[in-house]
Formats: sequence, structure tokens, C-alpha cells
Amino acid sequence: MPSLAVVEASNAAFSPSYIPVIIVVGGTSGVGQAMAEALARQTKRDAHIIIIGRNATAAERILASFPKPTESDGWAHEFVQCDASSMANVRAVCASLRARLKSVNFLIITAGGPASNSFIESSVTPEGINSHLAMRYFMRYLFTKELLPLVVCAKEMGQHAHVMTVLSAGFGMRIRTTDLGLHEAQSRSIKLLQGIFPSIAAVKGLVAGMAYNDGLVAHFAALHPEIAFTHIQPGSVLTEGSSSLPLGWFLAPLSWVLLCLKRALSHTQDECAKYMIYGLLDVERGLFIRDNYGDIISAHVFNPDRKNAPLDLRSLTAQKFGVLNGVLMKGYGGSDASVAALVAYTEQVLATIP
Ligand SMILES: NC(=O)c1ccc[n+]([C@@H]2O[C@H](COP(=O)([O-])OP(=O)(O)OC[C@H]3O[C@@H](n4cnc5c(N)ncnc54)[C@H](OP(=O)(O)O)[C@@H]3O)[C@@H](O)[C@H]2O)c1
Repeated sequence: MPSLAVVEASNAAFSPSYIPVIIVVGGTSGVGQAMAEALARQTKRDAHIIIIGRNATAAERILASFPKPTESDGWAHEFVQCDASSMANVRAVCASLRARLKSVNFLIITAGGPASNSFIESSVTPEGINSHLAMRYFMRYLFTKELLPLVVCAKEMGQHAHVMTVLSAGFGMRIRTTDLGLHEAQSRSIKLLQGIFPSIAAVKGLVAGMAYNDGLVAHFAALHPEIAFTHIQPGSVLTEGSSSLPLGWFLAPLSWVLLCLKRALSHTQDECAKYMIYGLLDVERGLFIRDNYGDIISAHVFNPDRKNAPLDLRSLTAQKFGVLNGVLMKGYGGSDASVAALVAYTEQVLATIP
């Protein structure tokens, strides 16, 4: 575990010779806000930072505190409004970003979700996706896929190119290939008890999201071996989004105990952001599973000559969990076959959404 001093020194050394374009999905509060703020301070006015979320008032306040590029610089920090639980919205936002940006150096996805810390409520979005999976997985997959051409451009210009999803890395949760969309779990959740007891679909959505993010980074890192992809966990962090009662009002006393423990044991969002940025700036290319101090739990560098090649399902280890491309990965929950099944399922779902 790096000390805070090491992390701060490493982050302070980041001084690119170009103007980095940094997109933070979830930059209007929590870890994403703190990362955007820290990167803005660090780069002074020499960065183009775009924060994405729903809350325009919070975004205005945050952007107002950033060091400002001048008009002659030719870029300005921006807020892009998007309810990312809708994949149609994510597609539209990404299309407009692709139309006006030349490249993206850092795509950071931190947005929690409605009840991101809650085990009690689960619903299905109007697009038919489990609400936890929509925010914890589908929108992350779609932002990555749709903005990758811009990240590739950054790499081709010899600049940093990194996609980071901040969720819950390192637990080695398996990608279970039955009921990938959790529709069965949703139908088994008893509606009457929603909001009172933990719901099967909510708990499964939270856990599956962790596993699916491993699959997400593995899939895209295999296709783009020249770029860095990271799934990182922030650890326990005091943010607005993580301060709800996780077990609902019926188990409120237990929830309060958990919240008190959390307050005692958590990092602030500013401290957490320093470790996340340490992980963001520390890599060249490949797949990285990182802990809440930015340390690498496991990593895999794909052969750069195999661009646009998906994971090889003919390998003898393709069915083995925790093994990526024949290499045992600590804290990684995929197998090559389960990642392929997840991606096929994801594409099938996304194809039904205009
Ligand atoms: N905090 C923790 O202790 C902890 C622990 C483990 C894992 N995590 C995970 O780490 C990540 C960062 O944590 P966090 O506590 O910073 O999360 P958070 O507070 O829940 O995230 C808040 C951000 O998510 C955005 N957001 C929420 N719903 C959105 C939607 N429908 N569309 C667009 N943006 C949306 C919010 O923007 P608007 O309000 O503007 O919409 C805000 O910018 C999350 O994925 C969380 O699940 C956190």
C-alpha cells in the first residue's frame, strides 16, 4: 500500500505536454466530483474536463471552482447532462461527444445509482434492464464502447489513454452465465416486501455488477491491447450517495450501526480521489484490477499485435474462473467463456434499444 505522501508526489508529477481531455461520468458528487476537482487543481487550466451527471446546479458549482481556461485557449470545462440509467441517453450523449471531440485521454466512470448502496430496492428501467445493473454495468459498458474511438485517437497521438471504472474490484465475484439480466431474480423478489427486507434482485444486482465490471475491462482490454483499462474499488468512502440506510427502515437499527461503522472507517472523498488518480496515472496499457489504495491486485498485458481480437475461447483454460487468457488473476471474477457470454448477452440487450 503506497503512503499518502507517495501518492501525492506521484500525482503531482503528472504534467502532460498536451491538454488532456478528461471525462468523469458521475463527476457531480462523490468520488467522481473529488477526482474531477483534484485533476482540475493539478492541471491548473491546462485540461479539458467534462463532467457527466443529472444535477446541473451541483455541476455549475463544481465547475465554477475550477481554474478556468481562457477563451483564447479554445476549450472550456463542461457539464453534460445525462440520466445514465437510460442507454438511449448514453448513446445520444456519446454521439454528440464523438461529433465534437478529437480524442479522450481519461474516461473515468464513477456514477453510483439510485440506492447505490442499498440492498432493498430493485426495479426494472423503462428499457427493461435491472436498475442496479443499468448503472453498475450496462451504462459503463456503453460509455466505454461508444467513446473508445476517441480514446484510441489519444493513444495514436502518443498520449495517455485510460478507461477506469470505479466500482468494487478485487473480490473475484464470478460471472454467472445463467440469468445474466437477473430477470428470474426480479420475478422471485417479493414486491410486497420491497423497501422492507433486502430484495434478491437488488442483492444479486449489486454482486453481479462487481463481477460484470471485471468482464467489461477484460473484454475491451483484449480488443484494445494498446490502451489501459482498470476496474478499481474505492473502499469505504463518505459520499452523499453512500449515506442511505443500506437495509431499509425495517432493519434501521442494524443500518445505523453499519453507517456509524462506515463513518469511523471511511476515507473522505478527497482522500479516496488521490488514490484513484494514483491508479489512473500509473499505467501504460493492459488490464488492471486495483484496490482502494490504487495498488495493483492483478494485471494482464495482451499481445499488442492481436488488436481487435476477442478472448480466445479455444484455449484449454477458457472455462476456468479467475483465469484470463491462460493467466491466473488474483481478485478477478471472469473466465474467458463467461466474459464472452456476458458480452454476447449485453450486445443482444443493447441491440433492442434505439
Ligand atoms: N462510497 C462508497 O463507500 C463505495 C463503496 C464501494 C463501491 N462504491 C462505488 O464507487 C463508485 C463511486 O462511489 P460514490 O459513493 O462516489 O457514488 P455516488 O455518490 O453514488 O455517485 C454519485 C454520482 O453518481 C451520479 N449518478 C447517480 N445516478 C445517476 C444517473 N442515473 N445518471 C447519471 N449520473 C448519476 C451522480 O450524479 P447526479 O446526482 O448529478 O445525477 C453523482 O455524480 C460508485 O459506483 C459506487 O457504487 C462506493
